[in-house]
Amino acid sequence: MSDILVTGGTGYIGSHTVVELQRAGYTPIIVDNLVNSNAGVLDQVEKITGVRPEFHKFDLCDSEKVNRFVADHPNITGVIHFAAYKAVGESVQQPLKYYHNNFFSLINLLNAYAGKSVNFVFSSSCTVYGQPDVLPVTEEAPVKKAESPYGNTKQIAEEILAETAAANGNYHIISLRYFNPVGAHESALIGELPLGVPQNLVPFITQSAIGKRGPITVFGDDYRTPDGSAIRDYIHVVDLAKAHVAAIRLLEEGNPAGNYDVFNIGTGKGNSVLEVIKAFEASTGVKLNYQIGPRRAGDVEQVWGDVSKSTRELGWKAELGIEEMMRSAWKWEQYLKDHPLT
Ligand code: NAD
Ligand code: WQD
Repeated sequence: MSDILVTGGTGYIGSHTVVELQRAGYTPIIVDNLVNSNAGVLDQVEKITGVRPEFHKFDLCDSEKVNRFVADHPNITGVIHFAAYKAVGESVQQPLKYYHNNFFSLINLLNAYAGKSVNFVFSSSCTVYGQPDVLPVTEEAPVKKAESPYGNTKQIAEEILAETAAANGNYHIISLRYFNPVGAHESALIGELPLGVPQNLVPFITQSAIGKRGPITVFGDDYRTPDGSAIRDYIHVVDLAKAHVAAIRLLEEGNPAGNYDVFNIGTGKGNSVLEVIKAFEASTGVKLNYQIGPRRAGDVEQVWGDVSKSTRELGWKAELGIEEMMRSAWKWEQYLKDHPLT
């Protein structure tokens, strides 16, 4: 079966996708500069699947290296482009760092494939919807002004991709708008590796539970939601990984919707922060210390996705629920305690 370039393939979502691609019979080839990941992930993937993925370490912002790589790998038929910076707060402090990395890497890849036929899957985000007017949010909902330079890189990247596909029929592109990816592989051999103090809820929960951090602060309990805390559509990273395999398959079959398409990738169900905390306690038996704090600047109140288009056209549906997300995240945190990936 086909060779698939996975940029950012040693990262959190990329590593899980490499495993699912191998399981589906594809040959993933990873390019990553390890700026936010660890080469030890290659050993971990090999432990899970028995196959060590081909790996190339370089910066995708270097156009010469990208062009040389593409010329040296003529059998690649698909690209899944995960590589990007993703820290919302840091992007507000250092916007140019985000615009530079997220745009140069994307444009270099697209340029390198000009003149060739390529299937291209892009990591977008539900952040493009901001606070939607109607829930669950569909792919037709208006894209709202981005709350951060990071969010803006996703919005503009989607425009770049739509315009590129419209101008050149060789590009077959799907943007996947992820909701909130959490959890880890059931083997606990791969998972999320947050740098420093986690900004996201679930890594903070597991680090707090294992004693690396103090109590969790629930950012706001005065939202217009049933328990007052904010609601998100949490999706298990393994389900998310499988959505990429489904997207590559749809592009290979020839997406009847055309050369550019967008899909929501979530469960279609929202959980509040307090529900997530309770689900963690119920599924792991570990009690959490938490306190209520003020709202976090830039947070939306509630968002969850309408996933009927993904179900219908991608033939994909999330299978794992919030308890499994929490159980796997906790198993991974416990594994890391004894096996730090440095
Ligand atoms: P991650 O940081 O774990 O993975 C990204 C990988 O890309 C890392 O391994 C990093 O070393 C690599 N990378 C970054 N810049 C590079 C460059 N210039 N050249 C080569 N490699 C480079 O992040 P993730 O959580 O796996 O996210 C993957 C993608 O999904 C990103 O585009 C992110 O914006 C998007 N996304 C993530 C979330 C989330 O909550 N994790 C939600 C929506 C969208
Ligand atoms: C979830 C909920 C917090 C930490 C971010 C990005 C988004 C996407 C996913 C990349 C919110 C609350 C959190 C804590 C809390 N990333 N929370 N205490 O903000 O939905 O999305 O990650 O594309 O672009 O913005 O995810 O995990 O940070 O927060 O109460 O210590 O948990 O306020 O309601 P978010 P999150």
